[in-house]
Amino acid sequence: MNIIAFFNLKGGVGKTTSAVNIAWQAANQGLPTLLWDLDPQGAASWLLQCKNKNKAGPRKLLSGKTAIGELVRHTDYPLLDIIPADFSFRQLDLELARADSGDDQLARLLAPFSEHYSLIILDCPPSFSLLSEQVFAAAEAIYIPIIPSHLSLRTFEQTRDFFKENDLKAKRLHGFFTMADRRRSLHRIMLSHPPKMLRHGLKTVIPYAAVVEKMGLARAPLAEFASSSPVNKAYEALWQEIKATL
Ligand SMILES: Nc1ncnc2c1ncn2[C@@H]1O[C@H](COP(=O)(O)OP(=O)(O)OP(=O)(O)O)[C@@H](O)[C@H]1O
Ligand SMILES: [Mg+2]
Repeated sequence: MNIIAFFNLKGGVGKTTSAVNIAWQAANQGLPTLLWDLDPQGAASWLLQCKNKNKAGPRKLLSGKTAIGELVRHTDYPLLDIIPADFSFRQLDLELARADSGDDQLARLLAPFSEHYSLIILDCPPSFSLLSEQVFAAAEAIYIPIIPSHLSLRTFEQTRDFFKENDLKAKRLHGFFTMADRRRSLHRIMLSHPPKMLRHGLKTVIPYAAVVEKMGLARAPLAEFASSSPVNKAYEALWQEIKATL
């Protein structure tokens, strides 16, 4: 079982869009896949039309009173399951601090899934928190969507510095460009001369495309309603690259 995460300190850069489309790609290729929507905003759950029906809060989950398997829902797509976001999980950070049992609590929660799933994808909220530290410990690879702008690169740098300061392997961080718009000169410059800090980055560039916004209308991954669009093809290529890094 591989555990990967989509993370960026910066909001609105394409974490959820990427997590949902990559999850669909993986499942479509025959890998039993679980997407955990860790963001109380619940965008991934909403896009996949799944709600959390279990009222158990994070305290019961962390103490083992609620088995994590009870939170799993099937999506409309074969081999793709989800743990939907639950608003009560906004307190996950507080409960992690309260439980105070090391930075591998998330990894331990996920361990029982190893028999059921080949791939677990964590869709993270845009913040540094105890939860993100747990994600950094649990995920073998962390994919960071970056809009080709200086501000976006800065948040990548902050994450990389956090890894270095905390003796985490920065090689596990893989940046990739999203929402790239070649009509914009800064985007063109960054794409043709990617900064050195992205040397472990992925080569696939996700273009800016209006059809992505339609995921909210269709409430479905791109492949389900715009399979021949260039942006869906880019996600297919991104998945091939991600698969190769695992
Ligand atoms: N390649 C793209 N082209 C055009 N729009 C995009 C693209 N990728 C994402 N978007 C749009 O940008 C917005 C933010 O995307 P998304 O929700 O995936 O970002 P996020 O990083 O998960 O945000 P948050 O930090 O709030 O969780 C959404 O409205 C989404 O439809
Ligand atoms: Mg998101």
